Amino acid sequence: MSNERKPVEQLTEAEAAEELAFLAAEIARHDALYHRQDAPEISDADYDALKRRNDLIEGRFPALIREDSPSRRVGAAPSLTFQPVVHARPMLSLDNTFSDEDARDFVAGVYRFLGRLPDHSIAFTAEPKIDGLSMSLRYENGRLVTAATRGDGTTGENVTANVRTIGMIPQRLPADAPDVVEVRGEIYMAKSDFAALNTEMAAQGRPLYVNPRNTAAGSLRQLDAKVTASRKLRFFAYAWGEMSAMPADTQLRMVETFKAWGFPVNPLIQRFDSADELLEHYHHIERERPDLDYDIDGVVYKVDRLDLQARLGFRSRSPRWATAHKFPAEQAFTRLKGIDIQVGRTGALTPVARLEPITVGGVVVTNATLHNEDYIRGVGNRGEPIREGRDIRIGDMVIVQRAGDVVPQIVDVVMDERAEGAEPYKFPTTCPVCGSHAVRDINEKSGRVDAVRRCTGGFVCRAQAVEHLKHFVSRNAFDIEGLGSKQIEFFFESEDENLRIRTAPEIFTLERRQDASLTKLENIEGFGKVSVRKLFEAIKNRRKIALHRFIYALGIRHVGETTAKLLARSYGSYDHFGAAMVEAGSFAGDAWNELNSIDGIGEVVARAIVEFYKEPRNVEVVSRLLEEVTPESAEMPAVTDSPVAGKTVVFTGSLEKMTRDEAKAKAESLGAKVAGSVSKKTDIVVAGPGAGSKLDKARELGIQTMDEDDWLALIGG
Ligand code: IVH
Repeated sequence: MSNERKPVEQLTEAEAAEELAFLAAEIARHDALYHRQDAPEISDADYDALKRRNDLIEGRFPALIREDSPSRRVGAAPSLTFQPVVHARPMLSLDNTFSDEDARDFVAGVYRFLGRLPDHSIAFTAEPKIDGLSMSLRYENGRLVTAATRGDGTTGENVTANVRTIGMIPQRLPADAPDVVEVRGEIYMAKSDFAALNTEMAAQGRPLYVNPRNTAAGSLRQLDAKVTASRKLRFFAYAWGEMSAMPADTQLRMVETFKAWGFPVNPLIQRFDSADELLEHYHHIERERPDLDYDIDGVVYKVDRLDLQARLGFRSRSPRWATAHKFPAEQAFTRLKGIDIQVGRTGALTPVARLEPITVGGVVVTNATLHNEDYIRGVGNRGEPIREGRDIRIGDMVIVQRAGDVVPQIVDVVMDERAEGAEPYKFPTTCPVCGSHAVRDINEKSGRVDAVRRCTGGFVCRAQAVEHLKHFVSRNAFDIEGLGSKQIEFFFESEDENLRIRTAPEIFTLERRQDASLTKLENIEGFGKVSVRKLFEAIKNRRKIALHRFIYALGIRHVGETTAKLLARSYGSYDHFGAAMVEAGSFAGDAWNELNSIDGIGEVVARAIVEFYKEPRNVEVVSRLLEEVTPESAEMPAVTDSPVAGKTVVFTGSLEKMTRDEAKAKAESLGAKVAGSVSKKTDIVVAGPGAGSKLDKARELGIQTMDEDDWLALIGG
């Protein structure tokens, strides 16, 4: 790095940008060496010097602060210093809604699910979505015992000592509060306190903080509670976790109870009876936003009655009874410097825009997605013109948009500023990594050409193979700590056969092979005795793995986590699943029909799974993998005393006491599987008036049938 030692005051803007990029990568590398591999390469003092220099440059050029800046990486990096806390009830996230129309759909969806007509009105609350950090405060016998961050939703970090320094959070609850109370809400820093803190930093010639949210996160995750105490953090209570008794029966009354117990609650929460009123309040809050002393990024709507919330229940990660209506995305103009093509796991060629760095809504953006080649040409997914047909060319002035946590995208170009002689972008027709042809398939269902161009290199393509491995070890798949992107690339490229990993099974033979090798992993730069031991330990721990993780890890096209869970639940064991997929190879017959009858699996997905098993190479890799690891049979939901647990149920005809969706959600919560069509595997068919062919088929197959009342009597509901 040429300007590494140049005093910060003398750096030009271009040099500063270059050095910040270098520092971001370098500090991330040292973080990984230190935290994940226990093999630091530099002293703590040298590490601190790198961080300090990064802060100084950012202080001088705040507009250049990168999305991946080390100063922003507070809270994100898993910490080794706070104790984990398993939440008594998971801390879920909210679905997002981006327009008035979607908000109306949310309201209509709630009515539909509950089978109510709009004249039996359902009340909703609307309140600001605070842009801070969610926190769960647990009180036992009236005393604050644990304060935990959200973490991954299941396990958070214990930050009790720090939270005790926040004056507005009660340490004790009044005597009438239940024995166990978990109050949840948002910790934030007021905009005015943030501004005052930065004024002080500036006066001391120290680098400025980026935004209130990150500063609040950093302040909370201090090892020394005195530092937290010195920052003014605040809190709003809006939700709860475990409660030994419920003090109220609506959302609004719960919040009022929290207020009575001494918690700060947001004054803008209100209850309404219609979508129109919710939207009116949304726009009111939107207008108030600049004058509020805290950052908000939308409005949260919740069904007010808690009994209705319970009936609506949850999807995998979010409640059906709430949504976050986000404020519109922020946009900015910048120059498109170039277009890179990334090759993904399934061979998809994705164009990525390289931008002149620009701040969009408080974050510096340098890359944005361009989706696919049609998008660049100004053509939408159905062949219709987008941006009135304007294409995007390198060198163009473009509009970048960032909405919440979504990847920034380029939404338009400024034609007046297009340079003369700018050429339309030529999308590559060969893979930039392996050189194979890259083609656009015809979508069998729609008959249209796919928007995505894919590398045909398959296993030959280094990019696809490496991305496959990265997916295999990723958090929701095998989750092997110590095998990050860098390490996967290292093992993939290794010259030493005994260290090389090209397919997943080789991860599990690595230790045996390395024992037989002369090159010792621990002597290789970036590894060390401790990190090697930890790596092998982490690999060993995954020799037994949940079935849905195993299926997800295979990287079958269209099979995400939700589908993998559906498959695991439906087939129960890998033997069962694998055999059925091979049997379904002719796209006909019982096994094929059964796969298609799984509610939530459509034909495109079913086809992709069967295709995967038709490729001999996949079958070979999976069978080698099965010599090393054991997928554990899927656990059925922890409802064992339910009379329908493990049963496959089909609903047909019209239901009168509840809607189809509610019936399905209820059956699933009792451990039943709900299928869309009747087969030999069906246990119960619940038939309402108007039931037709499914009921006939059930009778033909001698399957138990019942009406809605029998069903309700059976499940005791
Ligand atoms: S309700 C079951 N209300 O948004 C969901 N969340 O995207 C309970 N948030 O993790 C959350 N303001 O940190 C709720 N008024 C509000 C909120 C709010 C901010 C955050 C919260 C949550 C995230 C979900």
